[in-house]
Amino acid sequence: MQQSKDTITLLLRAFKESFPSSAEPLIIRSPGRINIIGEHTDYNDGFVLPAAIDKAAYLAISLRDDNEIHLRALDLQRSFTVAINNLKPVTNINWPNYILGVVNEFRTKNIPLQGFNAVLTSDVPIGAGLSSSAAVECATAFALNELLHTNIDKIELVKMAQSAEHTYAGVRCGIMDQFASMIGKKNNLIKLDCRSLEYEYIPLTLKGYKLVLFDSNVKHSLASSEYNKRLEQCEQGVHWVNKKYPAKKLRDITKPMLQEQVQPKNKLIYQRCLFVVEEIERLQQACEYLKNGNIHGLGEKMFQTHNGLSKLYEVSCKELDILVELVHNNPAVLGARMMGGGFGGCTLNIVKDEAIILLIESVSKSYKQATGLECKAYIVEIEDGTTITHPNRRLYV
Ligand code: GLA
Repeated sequence: MQQSKDTITLLLRAFKESFPSSAEPLIIRSPGRINIIGEHTDYNDGFVLPAAIDKAAYLAISLRDDNEIHLRALDLQRSFTVAINNLKPVTNINWPNYILGVVNEFRTKNIPLQGFNAVLTSDVPIGAGLSSSAAVECATAFALNELLHTNIDKIELVKMAQSAEHTYAGVRCGIMDQFASMIGKKNNLIKLDCRSLEYEYIPLTLKGYKLVLFDSNVKHSLASSEYNKRLEQCEQGVHWVNKKYPAKKLRDITKPMLQEQVQPKNKLIYQRCLFVVEEIERLQQACEYLKNGNIHGLGEKMFQTHNGLSKLYEVSCKELDILVELVHNNPAVLGARMMGGGFGGCTLNIVKDEAIILLIESVSKSYKQATGLECKAYIVEIEDGTTITHPNRRLYV
């Protein structure tokens, strides 16, 4: 927690430098997320099993008396200003969109808006599959809800943050990332039904094991266009099945239905849909394993998920496959898989405590030899979701 205190001190200092005459800001901490299993299932109305982590975006924000939005991204050393009546997606840079998209959601709800000053910093690595953008969206939604006294409940804020990603960032993402960032709970996973949005917390007890991320350091520019393409392929599969069986999403579809209605029409669409249907099943089994303390079983499922993401859904890449391959036969690693949207980012690994240091050394070395790239490693802890961190917040809102 020392690190986050330092981060907040730096953030406050930057806020005061940038906006010396501004009111004392509200400070929001909004975390990145991991997902144990259930990948590319959220937009198919399936289940996911994410958790908020100990890496977060921090937003210092206070209202202005006019209708201007003044933003500063501390880590990128960039600033951006816009008037609320001129609000639209920014095309040449991404980062303001995660904030402005959320402002637009408040506008869409006809909530009277006011300008604000905000400084953003984050230690969620960008493009690492840890949902750095969702963290910023949730921070903004949470902050504006507080500052404008709008009393919107957290689930609705999650939906607004997701919609901001659709409209201002152009990615038709599911609800997992924003949900995990906002609703996360320390030491717990969230088993979320992405159709009903009912959820339950499942304590994660790894008994002598920890979660380790290996960051491939690969950020594929294709990620968002390929993501939207996968979503369309899933929709196509549902459309074909729907000609004979009632189905809204892949959640409603079984393997025999796919074999009958999709496989004869198009092998690729079949492959995509098969992965999702299998992944929804795998998640249910993984949750059973977790509840029974069978983390070996859970780890096996993670390897199977990786295989499906790589071979059937084709959202992995050479580097992620190498990272999983490097740990596959290591008895200290119970499970490993690529995580998030894909085409780069991190793998998630369940690793025996005492083997972690050596594993990081050996994976980094072999990865460098195989790809020429450095790989970073993070040991992650599971933390609470979006919160206000400023101790005196009530004095200023
Ligand atoms: C990205 C999206 C999520 C989810 C994952 C894949 O992180 O934002 O909604 O679809 O990919 O599981």
